[in-house]
Amino acid sequence: MCGIVGYIGKRKAAPILIQGLKKLEYRGYDSFGIATLGNPIEIYKHEGKISEHAGSASTLNGTTGIGHTRWATHGVPNDTNAHPHTDCSGRLAVVHNGIIENYAELKRQLMSRGHKFRSETDTEVIVHLLEEKYQGDLLAAMHATLPQLQGSYAILALAAGENRIIAARQASPLVIGRGDGEFFAASDMTPVLEHTERALFLEDGDVADLSLQNVTIYHGGQPVERKTELIDWSFEDTKKGGFPHYMLKEIYEQPQAFYNTVKACPPEILASMIKKPSQVTLVACGSSYHAGMIFRYLLEETCKVPARLEFASEFKYFPPPVNGLVIGITQSGETADTLSALKQAKSHNCWTLAITNVLGSTVSRVADDTVYMRAGPEIGVAATKSFTSQLAILMQMVTCLSDRKVCDLLLHGHRAIEEVLLKDLAPAVDLCRKASSIFFVGRGPFYPVSLEGALKMKEISYIHAEGYAAGEIKHGPFALLSPETPVIAICMPDETYGVMLSNIKEMKARGAPVIALGLEGDSELTDIVDMFIPLPKTHKFLQILTSLVVLQLLAYHTAVTLGRDVDKPRNLAKSVTVE
Ligand code: AGP
Repeated sequence: MCGIVGYIGKRKAAPILIQGLKKLEYRGYDSFGIATLGNPIEIYKHEGKISEHAGSASTLNGTTGIGHTRWATHGVPNDTNAHPHTDCSGRLAVVHNGIIENYAELKRQLMSRGHKFRSETDTEVIVHLLEEKYQGDLLAAMHATLPQLQGSYAILALAAGENRIIAARQASPLVIGRGDGEFFAASDMTPVLEHTERALFLEDGDVADLSLQNVTIYHGGQPVERKTELIDWSFEDTKKGGFPHYMLKEIYEQPQAFYNTVKACPPEILASMIKKPSQVTLVACGSSYHAGMIFRYLLEETCKVPARLEFASEFKYFPPPVNGLVIGITQSGETADTLSALKQAKSHNCWTLAITNVLGSTVSRVADDTVYMRAGPEIGVAATKSFTSQLAILMQMVTCLSDRKVCDLLLHGHRAIEEVLLKDLAPAVDLCRKASSIFFVGRGPFYPVSLEGALKMKEISYIHAEGYAAGEIKHGPFALLSPETPVIAICMPDETYGVMLSNIKEMKARGAPVIALGLEGDSELTDIVDMFIPLPKTHKFLQILTSLVVLQLLAYHTAVTLGRDVDKPRNLAKSVTVE
């Protein structure tokens, strides 16, 4: 769950590595470091964010280097545990993303053979193992070292005196960018796009040798070809573009992203991928899980096809009896739990389909088929446009399974989203920012909308928030209601409207201020709540989108008012590559 970057070319490496790491900070941001190839290797590493220390790091010499931005797993975030790590002699340096599962045993053996460890990381064993195998050829040393490692890794390594980067991949992403007379290696394309759109994606088990002249890839010790692809994300997409935060930019990109996804994934294409399943199982985590839950409600209600939804983290260890279609939803395409769940489903002979936003991500290698969201890069840790683009695909699937009853509707979804982007949420933000806890409630598909609203609020504002099916809140959570616990109720004029009004009255009677999201002109609802946020009158599918976007904005503005780092909330990372 870290980001790694490498550069070999004619330009000074350090500024390119620093710039690249800034693009990868969403993957982890508790410490960072770079190593450049001089003789000896020069290293700068530091606890904290890159922006706070970039000046000193940029002074390193050399035109070849590797860098790392960390999300701590083994050992606290500090200067020592930050990557790169070096061998006893300081001739070799390594950065690593992933987990070496057998590191404790390897470390014990290496120490008994006299190696001196400086950090608490699992990564450091890699560089000491390389040291034992190194006889002047880093590629040979890497080939000899990898069979000893168990777990996941994307590794970049340098050796003083050899102008090359050796890269290796096993279950952690690694992409190679081809420039003119220069090569890049990175955890994903975002740091590479500034320099080239030509990239190749390493497969599990690949080792790459990047030199000034070429990149050579080996698999099982033999040279292999990997196709160079043209990436359709642009460098501009990875900038803030005048917005104070990526998250706000990405919220505002949703009309375009939703439209692009709907256009890129027409029902006929999806129909050929999902056929007519007798049963659908969805596996996902976090926001992607909430997208799956919305889909389940819509599919069962609209198409009468049974669907089951499982936390990917549970599915691997407690697989239910599954058959038919299993859909893994993961914007990053790298979430370890979702990858494991899909592998588990394949072992049960299910047909697996991935929904992801990242071309070349690991999930596309795991699943039988992949639908790309085409939402463009999402840098903010909180999922926003990737979430609505997931919904675009899932709603299109409902469309094709429902004999296209809602087909053209989705082509206008972006207009409904546009309408709510400029809502004045200041009074609601003022209420939320003072809250000790916030409850989000809804029924039917608005229940997962409330779960998503609560997740957004807690992850970026750090205010405790819970999403509840509105009928459940009286079975315990009522004990927590008070004037300091606002309730955000999503109340649409559907079959649950009457009972929702009753629930709202019950919550108000227990002292909780209620902010309601409902359709414009709903005077009955307006009269009973403390604040009313009107949404455009549209189809239910679009009500889901508009209410979600309002909840994203509410979380965003609350977090900003509280001075939070909304793009890089504490303790989180965008792609969670550990179980
Ligand atoms: C969403 O805002 C979160 N950051 C998180 O819950 C995320 O949705 C989850 O980790 C799943 O990620 P994925 O879609 O990349 O698999």
